[in-house]
Amino acid sequence: MTTKRLALTLLGSVALCGLAMPAFAQSGEVNIYSYREQSLLQPLLDSFSAETGIKANVLYAGDGLLERVAAEGELSPVDVVLTVDIGNLVGAEEQGLTQPITTAALAERVPPAFRDEDANWTALSLRSRVFYVSKDRVDATALTYEDLASEEWAGRVCTRPGDHAYNIGLIAHYIAVNGEEAGREWLTNVRDNLAFAPNGNDRAQVKNILDGTCDLAVVNTYYMGAMLNNDAEPEQKDWAASARIIYPNAEADGTQVNVAGGFIAKHAPNAENANALIEFLLSDEAQAIYADTNYEFPVVASAPINELVASWGTLKASPVALTEVAAHRATAAALVDELKFNEGPQK
Ligand SMILES: [Fe+2]
Repeated sequence: MTTKRLALTLLGSVALCGLAMPAFAQSGEVNIYSYREQSLLQPLLDSFSAETGIKANVLYAGDGLLERVAAEGELSPVDVVLTVDIGNLVGAEEQGLTQPITTAALAERVPPAFRDEDANWTALSLRSRVFYVSKDRVDATALTYEDLASEEWAGRVCTRPGDHAYNIGLIAHYIAVNGEEAGREWLTNVRDNLAFAPNGNDRAQVKNILDGTCDLAVVNTYYMGAMLNNDAEPEQKDWAASARIIYPNAEADGTQVNVAGGFIAKHAPNAENANALIEFLLSDEAQAIYADTNYEFPVVASAPINELVASWGTLKASPVALTEVAAHRATAAALVDELKFNEGPQK
């Protein structure tokens, strides 16, 4: 923080809080760019502001926020960027948009696999790309990602297009664990096991299960919670109720995980408040609210897991570091192209 900004902040705190407040009371503002929806974030920010006196200003957008931070450069007002997918977090670091997070909570509370070793970003919650199988047509209780490529599942698998970040993350994970050649063979066989050419989003795959056009859908965990509780579109409750979740590789090398996370912007005008926000988001209290609202997994081990999420079984996360997975994203994307995954089965 520059001297000028510090002076402004202190002035602000005196004006805001009056002289009765301790001199070290935090105050001022923190500016957030968020890919995460307002309904997920606002309860947390309300609680953060109540606890710290720091006002949180948020710009919500579905895309373009990283580009915006880059374009704004040194003049950017943003302090904290909240996003999803390891590709976005590592990409922000590679573009020089980050600065190290300094709160001690980072190293104390986040396992090394889920934060940058130089503190340029952190996961705030975990999601996993798992199998939703038909309650009526599938008996299996334990399956692996390798099973997706086996003869038994021919014509029974569905997923959204292969070049979506969620599938790129899964394919990159497979390559990180098994190598590129094994990845190519696997993805070829998965493609040929598809019930039809990939289309629609994750929720649409779960509808396919109810419709009987697919027996096993590759979908992120939290959609089960989001769909079962979707009062606005109650038909989704039926889609979700037709399926149950299997955590692939739970009895082997562990299930793939991806993250929602954040970073402090390189030119953050309120870096101190940004660290206070990250520290808050890593508290047990915030982790519980976040996980409850999103049906995700807390990244902090001591934070409670949502009851509905816990009812799907125990996530045994793969120990492969997310930076290792991210290093294989480009290869994964090239494979999806090369194998024409999005055109569906080729035999
Ligand atoms: Fe999603």
